[in-house]
Amino acid sequence: MALKIARRGRIPPFIVMDVMNAASEREAAGHDVLHLEVGQPGTGAPRAVIAAAKAALDAERLGYTLAFGLPELRARIADYYVARYGTRVPMERVSVTTGSSGGFLLAFLSAFDVGDRVALAYPAYPAYRNILVALGIEPVGVPTDAGTRFQPTPELLEAGAADVDGLIVASPSNPTGTMIGRKEMAALVAYCADKGIRLISDEIYHGLTYHSVEAVSALEFTDDAFVINSFSKYFSMTGWRLGWMVVPSELLRAVECLAQNLFVSPPSLSQHAAIAAFDCIGELDANVARYARNRDILLRELPKAGLDRLAPADGAFYIYADIAHLTNDSEDFCRRMLDETGVATTPGTDFDPERGHAFMRLCFAGGTEDMEEAARRLIAWTGAARRVADGTAAN
Ligand SMILES: Cc1ncc(COP(=O)(O)O)c(C=O)c1O
Repeated sequence: MALKIARRGRIPPFIVMDVMNAASEREAAGHDVLHLEVGQPGTGAPRAVIAAAKAALDAERLGYTLAFGLPELRARIADYYVARYGTRVPMERVSVTTGSSGGFLLAFLSAFDVGDRVALAYPAYPAYRNILVALGIEPVGVPTDAGTRFQPTPELLEAGAADVDGLIVASPSNPTGTMIGRKEMAALVAYCADKGIRLISDEIYHGLTYHSVEAVSALEFTDDAFVINSFSKYFSMTGWRLGWMVVPSELLRAVECLAQNLFVSPPSLSQHAAIAAFDCIGELDANVARYARNRDILLRELPKAGLDRLAPADGAFYIYADIAHLTNDSEDFCRRMLDETGVATTPGTDFDPERGHAFMRLCFAGGTEDMEEAARRLIAWTGAARRVADGTAAN
């Protein structure tokens, strides 16, 4: 007799992971790949973090920690809010998590019931939608465009997502890199308070901004929001699987019980090492300076490849390109680009099930030479395609 397979496990793939598979098959076949697909720093962890990890291997037992993490790390995270935002957060409200991904699971489970509705911008990081679906929570996509910097506003919510129980925002955003300004964040917080909507603010790209404008934290305006962050991006520690979450007081015990049962504790070695991350700001800011150079190169060169409809990349390390004038099938476009040029990018369908077929995302977190080479190849590739279309190709 056929065994039952659960419906809620049938969520869409994280398409960028499939692109990574195609890219590594190409590499295994002996071809080179320029990785502008996956959103991770091209650098490893800061030197002092690695030294702290080595010391912990020798000196620590590395057993489970408390479900909320090592007190010393929680205290360093709380101090970081004072240093970066001038906002005091009691360390008791800081929960160390298994990446921000673990944080989403805990936040969604503690704040929402099956059948609840949670709004999020389209385009957005795909795992929000897919985790919500797996938990039986209904994602409510709010279509956004350059008019609101691809961010939700009270007006857009009122028009397209009234009666939701939650709202997820990300500033800077993945895939667009756009930010929510101070005034706009205040308006969203006020709207959520008025309507009884639980705000979840994904602040994983804080620290990665390019116009000397710091990203605004929801914590500067409210204690009722979940504020989610991670060591994966600014701190350059993706594979260490460590993040954190500032939890609303009324949900602390629920999150703690969920964390105890779902994860027991976040990874111990990573926690010992991450304490040192807060002493590495100089090294980490040098990474940001490299991202800024990479961003400048792509913003200057991509228009020469016909990619001139670009979201304003205020932060993170992404450029979201409107390619509607080149294709109406971004998955096919990105596949052909990888096959024919070796440049791997992510189709917009990962981020926006409705309009992503006309967009793609380029990640500029890799090496500067890779950005220069990718731009050269894309200019040659789209130039050749244009010459074929014009009938001026040499054969
Ligand atoms: C917006 C956003 N949030 C969360 C994550 C997950 O990060 P992690 O689980 O490594 O902290 C990512 C990863 O790319 C992301 O782009």
